[in-house]
Amino acid sequence: MAAKGLKNFQLSITKDCEEEDEDEEINGRRMNGASSPQPIDLEKIKQNSDGSITGMFTSGFNEVVINNPYFAAGGGLMLLGTALALGRQGVVKGSGLIYRQLLVDLEIPSKDKSYLWFLEWMSQYKHRSSRHLSVETNYIQHDNGAVSTKFSLVPGPGKHLIRYQGAFMLVNRERSGRLLDMTSGTPFETVTLTTLYRDRHLFNDLLSEAKKLALKAREGKTVIYTSWGPEWRPFGQPRKKRVIGSVILDKGISDTIVDDVKDFLISGDWYHKRGIPYRRGYLLYGPPGSGKTSFIQALAGELDYNICILNLSEANLTDDRLNHLMNHIPERSILLLEDIDAAFNKREQSEDKGYTSGVTFSGLLNALDGVASAEECITFMTTNHPEKLDPALLRPGRVDFKVLIDNATEYQVREMFLRFYEGEEELSNEFMKQFKKLQLSNVSTAQLQGLFVYNKREPQQAIDMIATLRNPNNVF
Ligand SMILES: Nc1ncnc2c1ncn2[C@@H]1O[C@H](COP(=O)(O)OP(=O)(O)OP(=O)(O)O)[C@@H](O)[C@H]1O
Ligand SMILES: [Mg+2]
Repeated sequence: MAAKGLKNFQLSITKDCEEEDEDEEINGRRMNGASSPQPIDLEKIKQNSDGSITGMFTSGFNEVVINNPYFAAGGGLMLLGTALALGRQGVVKGSGLIYRQLLVDLEIPSKDKSYLWFLEWMSQYKHRSSRHLSVETNYIQHDNGAVSTKFSLVPGPGKHLIRYQGAFMLVNRERSGRLLDMTSGTPFETVTLTTLYRDRHLFNDLLSEAKKLALKAREGKTVIYTSWGPEWRPFGQPRKKRVIGSVILDKGISDTIVDDVKDFLISGDWYHKRGIPYRRGYLLYGPPGSGKTSFIQALAGELDYNICILNLSEANLTDDRLNHLMNHIPERSILLLEDIDAAFNKREQSEDKGYTSGVTFSGLLNALDGVASAEECITFMTTNHPEKLDPALLRPGRVDFKVLIDNATEYQVREMFLRFYEGEEELSNEFMKQFKKLQLSNVSTAQLQGLFVYNKREPQQAIDMIATLRNPNNVF
């Protein structure tokens, strides 16, 4: 029974095949198995052609390619594939064209000043959607010395969307591979802003806003720069400006220096017309704690300038680096060379001991001479030992203005007293009486400050403790 059933099944298959063959014959086509390719019917080609070679070729082509189901199917697929590829290319090119026509990019590399401004701005901007954040920690030092820490979440590497003045902007923060900024040890980065072409003017608004925000944070502050490799970098947070009146120098000294610097700053044309390098060097010398550094900081605040501090005794500071740094001072900055004698003491010592010295004396002289900037250059130098300085350094052009900032004179003592204890005229007279009675000399203004800070609210107690000024190293 089972065998019979199987036979019937085979038969029905055969029959089905035969029926299919018939159908195909009717359609004028033969679909044979892959194992038996259809022979080319030369007779048919001859019949269909008009006898000419072209006719024969066309007819042959029709017979071989068009009427052939394999070619028809393969060709179809090929055409479909080509069309898809072309379509895809078209979409890519089209979107590139649309991108170029409709969108506009702004690239901000990490070397540019506005890079940090932008990140700071964005960390405070409300209308943004960021999923990648980086932390940036800021210390804020309050007037009473307390430090509070603020973490701001700045947009991390990746894509962020912001809405600025109604326009959408795509922000892409990218790290450039493994390339490192050797001066800071951080990877080079770029931030790319993309927006619609018609909104391109918003870039300017955005950058100005970011700049304003950054500068507002620095308003009333002095930025201190130090050398970092071949570059100047801000050192710590900008400091609060020191009021120039808070540094009490002997009568008239402060005004003389301030007037001289201000006069220099408005004499650019005068210098240029006469072909004189537009620079001026100041040397403040005197005992420790007499207010040299404090005065320069207050002066920078008064002029709204920043300070670039260079330590000449730094071991890895070479002549080349010194020259480079002095020729690339950030604008509106005072160059401050502290303890200028120390660099040369070290040089002598190191030569004796066989160490390699950093800056050479002639290197410093050349650097001071060679500052070839169109901008003004104000150099302040300080020393406790002017006698150790080489006359070559002190010649005009290198040092144009020398001032002794000495220990406190009677004028300074009284002024300091009254600055700490406002309106206490009578007590100041008493203090001066004691000061003279004890024949105190060689008291530095820093010592006076120490005594008055210790007795912040008790002027009488400061008078009672006046004898402590005898000891310059007294610790309260
Ligand atoms: N003339 C002054 N008026 C007000 N404060 C002063 C004066 N001199 C010194 N001080 C105070 O003393 C401290 C030390 O001053 P500063 O560092 O300016 O001295 P300096 O002359 O630079 O000393 P050094 O030669 O050791 O570098 C500061 O806190 C400053 O406020
Ligand atoms: Mg100093």
